[in-house]
Amino acid sequence: MKTYDVIVVGSGIAGLSFALKVAAAGKRVAIITKKSRAESSTNYAQGGIAAVTSQTDDFELHVADTLTAGDGLCREDVVREVVSAGPARIEELKRVGVEFTNLEDGRISLHREGGHSKRRILHVKDLTGAAIEEALLHAVATSEHIEMLEHHFAIDLITRHKLQLPGPDAVLGLYVLNVHTGIVHTFGAPVVMLATGGVGQVYQFTTNPDIATGDGIAIAFRAGVEVRNMEFIQFHPTALFARTKDRFLISEAVRGEGAVLRNSAGEAFMKRYDPRADLAPRDIVARAIDAEMKRSGDEHVWLDITHQSEESIRDRFPSIYEGCLKAGINMAKEMIPVVPACHYMCGGITTALDASTGLDGLLACGEVACTGLHGANRLASNSLLEACVLAHSGAQTALTYLETHGNEPLEMPHWRDGDVRDPDERVVLHHNWDELKRTMWDYVAIVRTDKRLQRARTRVQNLQREITEYYWNFKVEPELLELRNLIQVAELIIDCALQRRESRGLHYTLDHREKLDAAQDSIVQRFRG
Ligand code: FAD
Ligand code: SIN
Repeated sequence: MKTYDVIVVGSGIAGLSFALKVAAAGKRVAIITKKSRAESSTNYAQGGIAAVTSQTDDFELHVADTLTAGDGLCREDVVREVVSAGPARIEELKRVGVEFTNLEDGRISLHREGGHSKRRILHVKDLTGAAIEEALLHAVATSEHIEMLEHHFAIDLITRHKLQLPGPDAVLGLYVLNVHTGIVHTFGAPVVMLATGGVGQVYQFTTNPDIATGDGIAIAFRAGVEVRNMEFIQFHPTALFARTKDRFLISEAVRGEGAVLRNSAGEAFMKRYDPRADLAPRDIVARAIDAEMKRSGDEHVWLDITHQSEESIRDRFPSIYEGCLKAGINMAKEMIPVVPACHYMCGGITTALDASTGLDGLLACGEVACTGLHGANRLASNSLLEACVLAHSGAQTALTYLETHGNEPLEMPHWRDGDVRDPDERVVLHHNWDELKRTMWDYVAIVRTDKRLQRARTRVQNLQREITEYYWNFKVEPELLELRNLIQVAELIIDCALQRRESRGLHYTLDHREKLDAAQDSIVQRFRG
């Protein structure tokens, strides 16, 4: 058994930022990450990070934009804290080596995205996430207190209640699969930070990388931790249309710089849906595209930035320009075929502003957490900001907790694996994986109905029964663990969606089109014991 002061699950912006801060206080930290260290949604973030840095902007405007996008469900105290902490966290990113793009006159270049009343998105060209990931990984590599364990997959928490120990429930550690050896190890620590990112892979089409399988949410839920607002799945309006499952993102910043959505008749249709046209919040734009596609029967709409010069497009959006070229499209000369794709989970583990969850010793940060910042719809580029802010406050929470809960390693039971590994049965995994993704895409996507949700629930319950049987009998492997987590996450999304008898933010249902007067969170929690 390996023991640490703190175990961090995940090596995106949330996990790395947090790890650096607790390690700076001399704590022994393990970062467990299921693929290679840079593989994360963070690494693909394009548009940038929202923060008030310009003379013409102010906190009240950023707060107001966040609240408007969140459609009545944001926690205003959380919004104020996160927004006002923004400039300090940006300075910290600069100190670890992130070089945000400047204008020719030396001032910082600020992008504009949907729902923002001002230009306030700091960026590194259109490769902001990769620049942040690289800088943070470099800093982590130089810390003598951090051990990075790549290709290690966190399976489940070990808690006092699971071991039937007396007293209040608390985290004791984790079971972790070494993906290369196939051995499951027991890791002990009084503090575990879940920073496992989003859930995009639960849908057939997503902008998210393969790691986004909702592991942290499923792990916390199985340990009896409260999860909320899972119905609020953000569909990004403009992913490159392709026949493959991968949907390359065309950043909203492209519309911020003047690109226009057009239907197959060439009409710039967004004006018909919202006075803010192409820069309306994402839920409105994604629904408008969905409506246009349903009306015309087309497989996609078009994004048009051909009125701008090739030189300027290449300079501002080098990776998007290249990504389109790879797909055979020169975006300076041709319109880009785009469709909405699953992009971001606004719900997640119920998490306070200090990153604590309802379980002692368990913290959450980043996309896995639901703090109340995003409400029913996240304002663009607020997620990288939230991750930095929570990593900062979470580090303080961890250090305080460690003062009274030092590392007294307890004997913990070893993992008992199922003993069957039958390659013929692997076809079940592939089949169920496909069925889950299609079910979620067809019945639980942008426009919902009670009937579609019930239909999805029945199918997902069947998949849950099959995977549970499989899980207890077969040796664990990443594909099985991810499918088990995705099925759990799908159930949580559907449960929350069925609780909401109204249309609000990203949850739009034809059976309850109006918004109720009082905004309430939808909550799910399993009996802990
Ligand atoms: P991630 O960066 O996803 O990291 C999760 C980590 O957890 C990974 O290292 C993963 O391997 C690991 N992990 C997961 N499960 C396990 C497990 N069981 N065991 C071990 N390790 C595990 N937001 C913005 O604010 N601005 C943007 O411009 C922006 N652009 C985006 C563009 C794209 C294409 C995408 C997909 C998202 C974008 N977002 C953007 C959203 C934002 O990037 C993410 O919300 C944010 O990066 C999440 O950070 P994170 O640290 O919480 O998770
Ligand atoms: C984008 O660049 O459009 C993505 C920004 C975000 O998800 O916040």
